[in-house]
Amino acid sequence: MNLHFKTNEKGNLEIGGADALELAHKYGTPLYVLDEMRIRDNYQRVHQAFSSEYSNFQIFYAAKANTNLAVMRILEQEGSGIDAVSPGEIYTALLAGFEPERILFTGNNVTSEELQFALDSGVRINLDSVSMLERLAKLPGAKGSRISFRVNPMVGAGHHDHCITGGELSKFGIMEQEAVEIYKKAHKLGFNPVGIHTHIGSGILDPEPFKLAVQVLMDIAGRVHQEAGVEFEFIDFGGGLGIPYTPEEPVLEIKKFAGEIVALYKSKLSEYGIDNPTMCIEPGRYIVGDAGYLLTRVNTIKQSYRKFVGVDAGFNTLLRPTMYGSYHHILVADKPEAPTTQNVDVAGNICESGDLFARDRPLPEIEESDVLSIMNAGAYSFSMSSQYNSRPLPAEVIVNNGKVDVIRDRETYSDILSKQNLPLRFFK
Ligand code: LLP
Repeated sequence: MNLHFKTNEKGNLEIGGADALELAHKYGTPLYVLDEMRIRDNYQRVHQAFSSEYSNFQIFYAAKANTNLAVMRILEQEGSGIDAVSPGEIYTALLAGFEPERILFTGNNVTSEELQFALDSGVRINLDSVSMLERLAKLPGAKGSRISFRVNPMVGAGHHDHCITGGELSKFGIMEQEAVEIYKKAHKLGFNPVGIHTHIGSGILDPEPFKLAVQVLMDIAGRVHQEAGVEFEFIDFGGGLGIPYTPEEPVLEIKKFAGEIVALYKSKLSEYGIDNPTMCIEPGRYIVGDAGYLLTRVNTIKQSYRKFVGVDAGFNTLLRPTMYGSYHHILVADKPEAPTTQNVDVAGNICESGDLFARDRPLPEIEESDVLSIMNAGAYSFSMSSQYNSRPLPAEVIVNNGKVDVIRDRETYSDILSKQNLPLRFFK
């Protein structure tokens, strides 16, 4: 079993030293729970694996995985930078205390207003197209900025087609063939291009495509260095490091992975005479994925054509099973290690047939009012949530050594309506 969880002396699921059942009772369900130490450990494990091989190394945590300010503060304290993909993420990262220098803005299909926001914030801008470069050049204060480009290395990988971001179907990045010219153009327009970037996809457990992308990006960087005279300050291989979602999936052997990537990197640096740039990666899921749990209470057990276990969360709180068909392991909070005795569908409370957390899933005996824990809900869960069906979003708590803090209040019905305006004529 490669899934990360603990059981306490009562036999209940334990999260960060707190009893999951007590959390559900005290804070209500559905409830997102984050384990602070697991976030810190995950960060340090990946940082250590790479920096022990190459000291000029920097992580840019991919904020999109989980943008809660507490998560961002933890990663700021650990020494991370931020991969931000929108002005909102830049805003959040700045509020969380990140120096603008430690924020890399990788937008795609960005408006000029958004570019101006990034520029005014002083963050580094990673460009996705010639259009973006030309529009940036027209903005006041743009000249002289240190920029980089995202390249599509024509290698992609990921747990689902939607999450593969390299290759000819991908909307991201510039083409290899235009790389040298675009860097030359950046010089001509008065920029200081200092970086190169790629991100090939998300949920990668096989190191091979990642290694191939590193090789391709380094060859492109080599040509850009030699033919466009760019002195790289950083080379960024993006995120994508996967975690096991099923009990059988392998854990990414991070030390081995880092060793292989760094060896490739170093050999390419010397092949092209590139001088010691910062090596960057942008993990999101790897850092927060298995640090998060979605606790939900069973309210209905229905034997219909199949057996449905109905819970009080829905795909508005965790979209991944519905959107990608993703597997999320489910435990019963008061008997996480009980043997499975039946196959059931675990269904949410949203009015759509696709609202299932699991289909035909082997689970132990379950009764109404049991608390279930949907595992690996730290990444792309709250951050992809919605108020669909007018469901207020659940609270988020963070736990460390048994101490619990509410880091986002449960929403109310009035929160759902707080931005609506009803024009006066509708009162007549
Ligand atoms: N860097 C860039 C430029 C990205 O676009 C992403 C993710 C990352 C880093 C971080 O990837 P990670 O290490 O977390 O795999 N909603 C999907 C994942 C979409 C990821 C989009 N970009 C899911 O729930 O699986």
